Amino acid sequence: MTRVFSGIQPSGTIHLGNYVGALMNWVKMQDEADAIYCIVDLHALTLPQEPGEIAQGTIDAARVLLAVGIDPEGSTLFVQSHVREHNELNWIMQTVTAYGELGRMTQFKDKSERNVFTSASLFTYPALQAADILLYDTDVVPVGDDQRQHLELTRDVAARFNSRYGDTLVVPEHRIPPSGARVMDLQNPENKMSKSLDSPAGTVNIDDTPAQIAKKFKRAVTDNDNEVRYDPASKPGVSNLLSILGAMTDTEPETLAESYTQYGQLKVDTAEAVIEKIRPIQERWEALDEATIKAHLENGANKARAVAQPVMQRVRDAVGLYQ
Ligand code: TYM
Repeated sequence: MTRVFSGIQPSGTIHLGNYVGALMNWVKMQDEADAIYCIVDLHALTLPQEPGEIAQGTIDAARVLLAVGIDPEGSTLFVQSHVREHNELNWIMQTVTAYGELGRMTQFKDKSERNVFTSASLFTYPALQAADILLYDTDVVPVGDDQRQHLELTRDVAARFNSRYGDTLVVPEHRIPPSGARVMDLQNPENKMSKSLDSPAGTVNIDDTPAQIAKKFKRAVTDNDNEVRYDPASKPGVSNLLSILGAMTDTEPETLAESYTQYGQLKVDTAEAVIEKIRPIQERWEALDEATIKAHLENGANKARAVAQPVMQRVRDAVGLYQ
């Protein structure tokens, strides 16, 4: 059976970009594959956190993942720091990752420019991400477009490990959705919607009220030529609305463009589609209590360890560590 693995950081609120670019696919893929989904709390530590913030973020993220429809029985849902092997393999992967490769990562360049403190962990972050994926003999990784470069690096370092130590690791592929792989900020449609950009009016959060969502779409930045056309390069704002609506209704953005003549109606319909998608998610998470979530995560960590431990042992054997 195909093994699927993906992760999400528990920093900040989960937003529409996460949902459309990744989580919708996570839910779909759990029915066809052996799916393992991870709340990557160690990754979130690469940017400064207040003590305690990460624990709350982790439980909040788990609540959202369960509410969007991740099935904790049929799939595996767990917290990265609960499975120690992630960090052990992280170190090994760092030894087969080139310094130059890490320096070319656009996420590192962006984040190191935006933050006052650039930690060494922000630089080596992609090696930990590679370890997350490789630890589970992963075939397919569902992610948004911004993770493409990290996934390519994962493939390169897995292949390098295999050529150095013999065929040990499964080389994974990414799965990026055709529509909505890059949801843009509603106020700055040249930038992707992001937890780390301080743009509250441009970011639709999964816990926004219907009124907040409607307002954010109403004020979404478009352009002045009043033509509804899907053309991300020259019409990023309008194209963003079309791809969001496309992802909500499972329709090609180009096809949707044909049925609109006015930006106003497109904004109203996109807001409505998002509100209707988010409503049942919010209802479900209100019904989830922390004890239930914690029990699911503990069970998930046990299932994850059972997969990760033999793979880690295979890596130790391949490297030839004295045991
Ligand atoms: P993170 O936490 O930033 O985002 C989680 C998922 O959401 C997708 N995403 C988007 N998709 C479309 N439009 C957007 N504006 C948008 N913003 C975020 C991301 O592509 C991602 O799929 N490095 C990863 C976490 C990670 C991981 C892994 C992922 C750690 N280990 C192993 C996969 C496999 C990250 O920071 O995602």
